[in-house]
Amino acid sequence: MTLEWDAGRLDSDLKGVGFDTLAVRAGQRRSPEGEHGEALFLTSSYVFRTAADAAARFAGEVPGNVYSRYTNPTVRTFEERIAALEGAEQAVATASGMSAILAIVMSLCSGGDHVLVSRSVFGSTISLFEKYLKRFGVEVDYVPLADLNAWKEAFKPNTKLLFVESPSNPLAELVDISALADIAHARGALLAVDNCFCTPALQQPLKLGADIVMHSATKYIDGQGRGMGGVVAGRSEQMKEVVGFLRTAGPTLSPFNAWLFLKGLETLRIRMQAQSESALQLALWLEQQPQVERVYYAGLPSHPQHELAKKQQSAFGAVVSFEAKGGRDAAWKVIDATRVISITTNLGDTKTTIAHPATTSHGRLTPQERANAGIRDNLIRVAVGLEVLADLKADLARGLAAL
Ligand SMILES: Cc1ncc(COP(=O)(O)O)c(C=O)c1O
Repeated sequence: MTLEWDAGRLDSDLKGVGFDTLAVRAGQRRSPEGEHGEALFLTSSYVFRTAADAAARFAGEVPGNVYSRYTNPTVRTFEERIAALEGAEQAVATASGMSAILAIVMSLCSGGDHVLVSRSVFGSTISLFEKYLKRFGVEVDYVPLADLNAWKEAFKPNTKLLFVESPSNPLAELVDISALADIAHARGALLAVDNCFCTPALQQPLKLGADIVMHSATKYIDGQGRGMGGVVAGRSEQMKEVVGFLRTAGPTLSPFNAWLFLKGLETLRIRMQAQSESALQLALWLEQQPQVERVYYAGLPSHPQHELAKKQQSAFGAVVSFEAKGGRDAAWKVIDATRVISITTNLGDTKTTIAHPATTSHGRLTPQERANAGIRDNLIRVAVGLEVLADLKADLARGLAAL
């Protein structure tokens, strides 16, 4: 018996369709049960029809599943959907955003290779490079994200990979992805972009010239704070190596989380658009509050890279950071006065979150390292969700009024 999905027949003909159509349909195969939604294959292994069939599948002579560390139909649908949305030849899902970064470096770099990382990346990304990858002989240097000359000057003959987050967290700095890709390629290196803050709904780094894109799917791809996961996408040449590492080392995605993320992707663009629009309105409002010293949001005309943001993103994202007049106490007062917004460091949720980076995400840095990263004690980060904008303003106004 040949199952429909074994034969690889996709559910819909998606040639030439738009982003939202891909977001709800790409990668879906229908099993003989005829289900309309994506089937959840909660299985770790697969039954072979005969011993010869098992041998042929293990040898890769016939397509089909062998074991869920290698392939799982629900995970594969998620991977194909992400590949379609990012414009990638191939994507592979991982257990978390951090294991996506680990897989990129472990599969594409060796001891003795040099990696350039932008200074303003997620804290655990720096820990991964500093505490672990350096122990295996990977050389790492950090470069100010926006400064293209600094990137050029930081190259060494053994530079293999550039890794950036754009926009960065929490200060919304950007890099010109096309220009940085040209710099990398002229020197024989690859450019990897953490596209967590924009998602493919707002920015498609591969189309701008990057070689690899990765996500913490835990954030906007899920969109509802339910599960951990990640994904790496790019050209087959590099993805073959990334897939090989993941299948061997094992930090692959649970089919249940893949199924959750497929539901999240269906509303991705609508959420990103709505949350970005609220974030822009909130940033404009914050800029006018007398108790606010400075607002960091690339959608503001006052942002130094506003024009670049307009060029490479279709909206500005949902994370707004601002400095309250005063020090740490002022920031804590604003945070503690909230009654709707959740005090949590996660982001990418439909529920708005608020955090104090200096004592949470950047709390382990020395005061000097924090100063270098531009994280001041009065900085507050808000990841805007889907609540009514007036309610969010009222929640922040309460704390600001008390300063
Ligand atoms: C930009 C960015 N990249 C990567 C990660 C790591 O993702 P995860 O927590 O899913 O491992 C995070 C998590 O906050 C993040 O914000």
